[in-house]
Amino acid sequence: MPTETLVGPGGRLFADPQPSPDETGFRQDNTSSQYYNSAYYLAHQKQVQPIPPPRPGAPLYLNLSDFVPAACIDAINAAGEISFHAVGDTGAAKVSRSQSAATAIGHEAAVADAMAADIQGLSGPAFFFHLGDIIYNFGEGQYYYDQFYEPFRAYDRPIFAIPGNHDGMVFGPSSTAPQVPSLAAFLVNFCAAASGPSPDAGGLMRSAMTQPGVYFTLDAPFVSIIGLYSNVLDGPGVISSQRGHFPISDEQILFLEKELSRLKPEREGGKRGVVLAVHHPPLSADARHGGSTGILADIDAACKAAGLWPDLVLSGHAHLYQRFTRVVNGKETPYIVAGCGGFSATAPRQKAPPACTTVDDHTLEVDPLIDFGYLTVTTDAQTLSVTFRSADKHGVAQKDLVKVDLQTGKLLQGGCSQASGGPRPARGGQGGGGKRKPKPRE
Ligand SMILES: [Fe+2]
Repeated sequence: MPTETLVGPGGRLFADPQPSPDETGFRQDNTSSQYYNSAYYLAHQKQVQPIPPPRPGAPLYLNLSDFVPAACIDAINAAGEISFHAVGDTGAAKVSRSQSAATAIGHEAAVADAMAADIQGLSGPAFFFHLGDIIYNFGEGQYYYDQFYEPFRAYDRPIFAIPGNHDGMVFGPSSTAPQVPSLAAFLVNFCAAASGPSPDAGGLMRSAMTQPGVYFTLDAPFVSIIGLYSNVLDGPGVISSQRGHFPISDEQILFLEKELSRLKPEREGGKRGVVLAVHHPPLSADARHGGSTGILADIDAACKAAGLWPDLVLSGHAHLYQRFTRVVNGKETPYIVAGCGGFSATAPRQKAPPACTTVDDHTLEVDPLIDFGYLTVTTDAQTLSVTFRSADKHGVAQKDLVKVDLQTGKLLQGGCSQASGGPRPARGGQGGGGKRKPKPRE
C-alpha cells in the first residue's frame, strides 16, 4: 500500500495515502433497478439521449503531462515506452438473491486491487482509461463512492473515462422529463471545470477529472487514445445520427476525423500509436451485447476520410473478454472487448463461434474468456501489445497477449497464424464452412 502518493499539476490527487481495507457492504444501498419500471425509462428506453456539449473553450484533446508529475513523464521517456490500463463495466451493483453485496464488491475489488498493485513507484501503467459503465444502473451520483472512488482508492494514477450506456441512462416518475439529466453525475466527476474534491467521493482523495466532455483525446508519450461516447441504448451503440436515423448530431464523427488528421503526421512518423475507445463494441460475438454495425461504419468513414486507421480498438459493454483481428487494407488491427471489470462475467447467450473463425474482414482469435480482469496496453510507438489478466479471489493470471508491429501493421504474436506455427488456417474455422454473414444487430 502506498504511503507517499502522487500529487499532480494543480494539486491533483489520486490514491488515498493509507487506503482502508476493502468494503464488505455498500455505504449506499445500490438497489436502483426499480427505476427500470419508472415512467420516464419505460417511455424512452429505446431512444438515444442528447450528447452533452463539451465545456466551452476547452480543447478536445488532453496532454498526460497536465495530469501527472513531470517525474512520471520523465520515467516513461527514459523507459522508452508507456503502459496504461483499460477495462469497462466495473460498477459493483449486481446484488440479487443469488449474489450478496459482499460478493459483488469482491468482484470489482479483485480487479481494482490488482490494477493498483501493478503501480510501483514511478514505473508501471501511467493511467487507467475506463471503457464505460462506471456506475450501475443509472449513473447515479450517490453511487460513485461505492462503485468508483472506494474501489480505486489505492490506484495512484489518473483515471480517464468514456461513459457507457449505464452512465447515461435516465429514469423519472414522469414520462416527459428525466429526474436527472443524462450524464449529470459523469460530468461532475469526469468533466469538472477545475480539478478538486468531488462531491461524490465521500471524503476520499481522488480529485475530480477535468476532461473537456464525454468524447475527447488523451495524448501521452508514444500513444494517443481517442474516446467516443456511444449513448444509452443496450444496443446498438450510436455515435452519430446515422444519416438522420437517430436524433443526435454528427459532431463525434467530425471530431474523430479531425483528431485522426491531427495525429496522422506523428503516427506516420513512428512517434505514436493511435487507440480508439468506444463503450459499445463494433465487433462482438456476444448475442446479447453484439457488435454495433452503425458504429463500425461511422468509424470507418472517419478513418477513410482522414486516411488513418487505428492501431487498436477497445470496448466494454459485453461482460467478458473477446479479441478479434480485423484486416483493412492489409493492416491487422486488434478489436478487443473487455467489459469484465467487476459488474458481472457472463457467457455469450448463444454459443460463440470457435477461435480462428473468420467472418468477412475479422477473425475471432481466441475463445471468449468469461473472467473478471483487465487490460494492460504497452507501446513504444514501434510495437503495441495488449495483455489480458484475470483477477478474482483466486489471484491474478495472464490469460491472453497480442502484439502488433506498428510499422508493418501485422500481428507479431497472438494471431491464429502464429498459434498454429504455420500459415493462417482456412477461413471459416472448424466446421464454419467458409464466410458467414454477421447477424445484423440493428
Ligand atoms: Fe454497457
